[in-house]
Amino acid sequence: MMASRQSENNAQEETSPLTTPNANIARIIPSLPLETRWPPFPLRRYANFWLPEVTLKEGVPGVHSCFEPRPTDVFLASFPKSGTTWLKALAFATLKRSTHPPFDDDHPLRHCNPHDCVRFLELGFNQQKDELEALPSPRVLATHLPYSLLPGSITGDGEHSGCRIVYVCREPKDTLVSYWLFTRKAAPACGVDARSFTIQEALELFCDGRCPGGPQWNHVLQYWKESVRRPDRVLFLRYEEVLIEPEAHVRKLANFMGCGFSEEEEERGVVSTIVELCSLGKLRDMEVNRNGSTRLGTKNESFFRKGVAGDWSNHMTPEMAHSLDKVVEDALQETGFTFSSTT
Ligand code: A3P
Repeated sequence: MMASRQSENNAQEETSPLTTPNANIARIIPSLPLETRWPPFPLRRYANFWLPEVTLKEGVPGVHSCFEPRPTDVFLASFPKSGTTWLKALAFATLKRSTHPPFDDDHPLRHCNPHDCVRFLELGFNQQKDELEALPSPRVLATHLPYSLLPGSITGDGEHSGCRIVYVCREPKDTLVSYWLFTRKAAPACGVDARSFTIQEALELFCDGRCPGGPQWNHVLQYWKESVRRPDRVLFLRYEEVLIEPEAHVRKLANFMGCGFSEEEEERGVVSTIVELCSLGKLRDMEVNRNGSTRLGTKNESFFRKGVAGDWSNHMTPEMAHSLDKVVEDALQETGFTFSSTT
């Protein structure tokens, strides 16, 4: 396992966006490396990342050929299980507060799951593209795609100024545990029984980068590098830091999105009301999140669990933790980036 991990993490993938335009990936999918052990979807390795086949078949080509970003769009990007749901709620409540004041009893987050308030761009792209087009500006959308697979119209290339991107990252061991538990819980909605998927199996696949969006640390690294290069366009947040200071992060988020809080809003307690509305306890207790499902069929309750830093120690042995820490440490050597975890 170790030898193949080394070569995979370092190898330059023969099939990269340089040789195959992202809009044409679908036809080369059968020739890409395949991984079927992380339920529920088969994964393919493309441009150095393992992605669900369906994302490569529909999502990436659709986004590259048909999606028209607007300069006012805000994209929320993340590796799965890093705090996406929370970021969606916070960003939506902050950006849309003039239309939907957070004090309102009928605020959308009180009757819709954050994933239905903020859509993933690449999930079911073909079915939702007209709906995305009809959304009023400023739009807030989300993605699990690696930075290198976003179209230049979003990231900003020669002819486009690009959009603002907010990325949330999480410590790898907590991400893995959260992902493993979520997979076991959510896979049945896709017709797959994942009860026999063990933490040991998940750990080995995760260490090899063989999980959706993996390798996780390379996903994080790409966005982090961009946030260093273009801090006005990419805001990099850490889940653990948002947990410690949610209000400071909501202010940061608002300033970055171009909708900072006025003194009058500060006096009325708008920031703390947003934090409260989006808290794990509040969201989890809402009827829609106790009993509803997203439009893609996942039970809303599966997005809300403990929401703490360091829960990995309840599911992984010190040896397991050490093996993942070592893989991550080796991969991040000389990059300048660390998961500054105190857990
Ligand atoms: P745990 O499984 O560790 O509890 P994602 O939203 O990217 O799928 O990430 C899911 C993780 O975020 C889960 O972590 C979940 O409990 C946590 N989470 C969801 N909503 C949250 C909130 N409002 N505040 C803090 N954490 C939240």
